[in-house]
Formats: sequence, structure tokens, C-alpha cells
Amino acid sequence: MQTAILPPVFRSKVIGAGPENDLSSQIDRERLPRHIAIIMDGNGRWAQRRKLPRIAGHRAGMRAVRQGIEACSTLGISFLTLYAFSVENWKRPHSEVKLLMALLREYVKKELEELDRRKIRLAVIGRIRELPLPVQRDLQAAIDRTRHNKGLQVTLALNYGARTEIVDAFREIIKELKENGALEVDERAVSRRLYTQGIPDPDLLIRTSGEMRLSNFLLWQAAYAEIWITDTLWPDFTRRDLFQAVLDFQKRERRYGGLGIG
Ligand code: FPP
Repeated sequence: MQTAILPPVFRSKVIGAGPENDLSSQIDRERLPRHIAIIMDGNGRWAQRRKLPRIAGHRAGMRAVRQGIEACSTLGISFLTLYAFSVENWKRPHSEVKLLMALLREYVKKELEELDRRKIRLAVIGRIRELPLPVQRDLQAAIDRTRHNKGLQVTLALNYGARTEIVDAFREIIKELKENGALEVDERAVSRRLYTQGIPDPDLLIRTSGEMRLSNFLLWQAAYAEIWITDTLWPDFTRRDLFQAVLDFQKRERRYGGLGIG
């Protein structure tokens, strides 16, 4: 290795020799999760601990979003889904909801160049038509601009709820049944009518801030996902945490209800 002949003081400056890269170099690129989904939790607590308004936590969470995306894109992950706003989040004070929407627009505007440069494709899932119109417009512009990119797909779950999604899928099935008279209803038929159609089920589901809940996120799709929970609050989440989650994922044996032999 080139780095071995350098004096120790220079080693950490060599790309690939920092602590994060040490972790990433242990990852087997042949056995990456295809799809990572993240419940980004703990923004409010992060702010509270610093006696800051909750929105400061969400703003700091935006930095962590950047780190998570960068790490997935660098590793060569195909799909990353981020739980950014749930159907239940409308119950928060109007001022927080308004600021979250503004932050989302700011994020899309600020990051679009970088996402495009990294060949990232932006997508959304959820009841998008219920979001404020300016948010919808900015999202659509970003989706259109990155549509043909062939790198990582970043999907933002916005106004998303897994139960709502399943209800919407069944409404679609009933509508098609009425129109066509017959329809085979099996697991594939349901999967193909979820917002996530065309996206493989998540292999790895990460949740920050130590809570052990799925919180109405990808309930159908995460049936066989490996779950990785960290006490780290979302704004403190870094590339290193993502690399650690992938490393731990690679140590697990996935049996899908079978015995995992033969
Ligand atoms: C959960 O923390 C986080 C959210 C409801 C919003 C997530 C938003 C971001 C990470 C920032 C912007 C995102 C994008 C994609 C630009 P919480 O507020 O429930 O935290 P708490 O449980 O500590 O109160």
C-alpha cells in the first residue's frame, strides 16, 4: 500500500485513510443492500438539548441528509428512501409544519446541482397532491431534471403513511376490478399498486434516536428488511454511521422464513 511508506503524520491526509474510509473499505461491494430506507428521527431532541428551537434541529438534519446521500452514492447503493414527512406530522404546530415545508424547498433548490452532478435521480412517495403547491412545483422540477440519471435513486417519503398507501392500493384494485370485471389479487398485485412500484423492497431499514418503532413507514415493503437502530440523533448522523449500518447488515444471515441452508 502506498500509505505505508508515508510518515504517520501524513497518513490521515491521504484519501482513503481516514476513520470513515477505513470503515468503508471493510464493506464488501459485492454484497451491498440494494435499497436502504431511513427513519430520520431525533431532530427535535437534538435542538432541545441545545436549547434551540425545534426547527434548528430540522435544519441540522438537512446536513445529515447530505451525508447519508453522499455515503450511499459513494458506496454504489441503488435506492435510498428517506422518511421526511409523515401523514401524522400535520398534527404538529402550524409554524413547525410551515418551516419544514420551507426547508424542503430550500433543500431541493440548494442541492439540485450536486444531486445532478452525482447522477442521482430524485423521486417522491406519499400523497404528494396534498402538499402546498410551491413545494409540489419545486419537487416536480427536481424530479424532471434528474429523471434520466442512472446513479442512486433518492426517494423522499412526504405526506407518507404506510397504511394510507395500502388503502390507496386497495382503492386502485377495486377501481380496476370494477372497470375490468376480473383481477387476480395476490402479493404482486398489491406491491405493484403501492407508491413504491418499481422500487425493490428495502434490505436495510435504519432508524435513529433509539426508538424501536416502524412509525407507519413501509410496513408492507419492510417485511424482510434488516432493522438497524442507533441512539444517535438524526442531526448527528454521519457517513460513518451509514457505513457501520451496512457493515452490520453484511454480518447478518437473511433467511426469509427458511432455514438458511442449502
Ligand atoms: C423527525 O424528528 C424528523 C422529521 C419529522 C422531519 C425530517 C426532516 C429533516 C431531516 C430535514 C429536512 C429533510 C429533507 C429531506 C430536506 P422529530 O422532529 O420527530 O424529532 P423528536 O422525536 O426528537 O422530536
